Amino acid sequence: MEVKSFKGDLKSLQIKSAVVFVYEGDMRSLSKLGRGISAKVRRALELEEYKGKEGQVEKVLLPGQRIEVVYVVGLGKKDKVEEDTFRRASALAVKRLKKDKIDKAVFVLPRGVRDSHHQATAEGAVLGSYSFDKYKSKKEDRFEISEILLEGSPDEIVKLGILLAEAQNYARNLVNEPGNVINPVTLAEEAERLAKEYGLECRVYDEKEIQEMGMLALWSVGKGSATPPRFIHLTYKPKEKAKDRIAIVGKGLTFDSGGLNIKPGDYMRTMKMDKSGACAVLGIMKAIAQLKPRVEVHGIIGAAENMPSGNAYRPDDIIRAKNGKHIEIDNTDAEGRVTLADALSYASELKPSKIIDMATLTGACMVALGEYTAGLFTNSGRFGEEIKKVAKRTGERVWELPMDDERLRKKIKKGPADVVNTGGRYGGAITAAMFLEEFVGEGIEWVHLDIAGPAWSREEYGYYTQGGTGFGVRTCIEYILSLEGRK
Ligand code: BES
Ligand code: MN
Ligand code: ZN
Repeated sequence: MEVKSFKGDLKSLQIKSAVVFVYEGDMRSLSKLGRGISAKVRRALELEEYKGKEGQVEKVLLPGQRIEVVYVVGLGKKDKVEEDTFRRASALAVKRLKKDKIDKAVFVLPRGVRDSHHQATAEGAVLGSYSFDKYKSKKEDRFEISEILLEGSPDEIVKLGILLAEAQNYARNLVNEPGNVINPVTLAEEAERLAKEYGLECRVYDEKEIQEMGMLALWSVGKGSATPPRFIHLTYKPKEKAKDRIAIVGKGLTFDSGGLNIKPGDYMRTMKMDKSGACAVLGIMKAIAQLKPRVEVHGIIGAAENMPSGNAYRPDDIIRAKNGKHIEIDNTDAEGRVTLADALSYASELKPSKIIDMATLTGACMVALGEYTAGLFTNSGRFGEEIKKVAKRTGERVWELPMDDERLRKKIKKGPADVVNTGGRYGGAITAAMFLEEFVGEGIEWVHLDIAGPAWSREEYGYYTQGGTGFGVRTCIEYILSLEGRK
């Protein structure tokens, strides 16, 4: 499917289908179709008592007219509209066009919308057309739209929107691949392939090098699996002097069985998604390599498979992480933070001004915030606020949870080692974040996103389908662009 900008007179465009986005109780964008067609559509809408509430779609057939079918898509009240409203509406339109097997259409937005709304519409179209059906043998219901024209949208803005959405769809594809296809070794191969295609630096460390570098935490988590762990470091460096340096770290558990503290079947199901943070990192690096901002970006992934076996790490084990701190293992199913201990230590040694990590870290975060919102944790109020501001625009819901509860912090500081890998029953997302903070270098501003909920969708909604969502990709890219002053 091609999405592109169309600038010019709609009345001279040869196209049979149009999608017109309208505010609730304000159908003025219809007039762009020309007076005759607009009047006919309005009459049909009146008969149906169509109001333009968000998500309300009306299909109007105009046999014999220049435009033969018009879909009117409601955006809801004008003063309530956000970027994400356009993203959702655009995806909804694409899903409907696909269902009705419409090959080409022009999208018409209300007058006076901002560039960010045009961009969100382009993103929504690309995100909404996503499907993961490569393992379906019958090619039925595989209709592809060939072209979407975005009327009045600036070309550069449309291209940016497409690029962001494609980076996200790439991440979704990787997340959806099962553990028998993507394991630590094949994930590292994919990173190398990506780096080659887009001209990024890529260094992969194998299980021997991981041990030599003192990343025994990552190694320990991975050692129970028949497939050894990998450590992946992708680098983007701008040609000119960089304005800033940032590291993006992703949890890369290609499958999380729980290890010796094995998960019951119901909980183990979908744990191929435990690599979502890593997949987001790859999506971000793919986009950054193309956008070429004046910011140095490091993409870092500790990839491992958490399995029970005679070689597996155990409860009671005490492990030395890369930064010299010792971790006592209480529960082998709290493995993500153990791998991230080394990934964050490594990232800190690169001396970035900022680190963002994304991890499907705790079920507790989903209990706290529900499955559609990521937990945000930070050691820097300012950085946290900046990410929240960007996330408002990208529509990726985040909510900050506190890091200042010193009594709670004591729960991970118990036992014979410096830290223990669980903090007990209550505040599980917070104690996990506090554990990670132990491995963030002095003076580095850090944001941790616990994406356990939103990384995976159990149902189809908005621009998501059932499965991996690519959550975090858009927010991180937009944040990096903001560092450069592009936005
Ligand atoms: N990968 C899981 C967290 C998770 C759960 C992500 C559900 C997505 C959906 C993580 O490794 C884990 O198992 N966490 C444990 C921690 C506990 C043992 C302290 C959890 O949340 O139950
Ligand atoms: Mn686990
Ligand atoms: Zn996990």
